[in-house]
Amino acid sequence: MRRRRAQHIASEDLRKEDPSQQDDSLPPVHWYQVKVRREFFMTIRKATVADADSLYILNQLFGNTTTVDDIKQSLIENHCEIVSIAFVDNKPVAFCSGIIIQSFCYRSPRMDIEALYVRDEFRKQGVGRALLRCLEKEARILGIHHFHILTHALNVSGQALYEKCGYAKTGEVLFEKTVVE
Ligand SMILES: CC(C)(COP(=O)(O)OP(=O)(O)OC[C@H]1O[C@@H](n2cnc3c(N)ncnc32)[C@H](O)[C@@H]1OP(=O)(O)O)[C@@H](O)C(=O)NCCC(=O)NCCS
Repeated sequence: MRRRRAQHIASEDLRKEDPSQQDDSLPPVHWYQVKVRREFFMTIRKATVADADSLYILNQLFGNTTTVDDIKQSLIENHCEIVSIAFVDNKPVAFCSGIIIQSFCYRSPRMDIEALYVRDEFRKQGVGRALLRCLEKEARILGIHHFHILTHALNVSGQALYEKCGYAKTGEVLFEKTVVE
């Protein structure tokens, strides 16, 4: 029998303000409490500088090389990027990031999903889907309704997740180039 689906951000009241945030002058760090498969609860919230060590480890597991200081600096300075991080029992298990793209060419901004990573042992339990939907929700609050995701043609799990989340394949082709000085 098919396992019961996760309760993916079923209602608006899953979105709460971060109770730990004391300073009223700062915008709230939103967080979500999401029940996923295997009956565990996961907390998803926007990452802060205090999460740099956790993001460093998750990003390394994802296969990217950077430093904790780079991550801290990026979280402070890059206002076009929204980074979300997910915890189960206070353990960081997944993250995703979206870049806000705004251009004179388009009437409204879009978000490019830059990265989405779930630790091996937490996969196929609804974590990736929940994280992506929370990021979309944060983007919608900012007036963003259009999303792009680039993934490898051989990435079966990534493509399965995106299709399940309502994304449709396009015919675009990626060209890239590295210029060596
Ligand atoms: C891709 C990734 C984020 C998926 O995360 P996840 O938490 O396992 O995904 P979910 O459990 O939320 O799955 C969502 C849907 O995709 C499907 N899916 C996920 N992985 C799948 C796989 N390997 N094969 C087939 N379907 C898969 C799930 O079955 C689910 O569909 P369902 O709700 O109908 O059952 C995770 O595998 C990962 O971190 N991979 C390495 C990094 C990566 O490739 N990131 C994406 C490219 S940037």
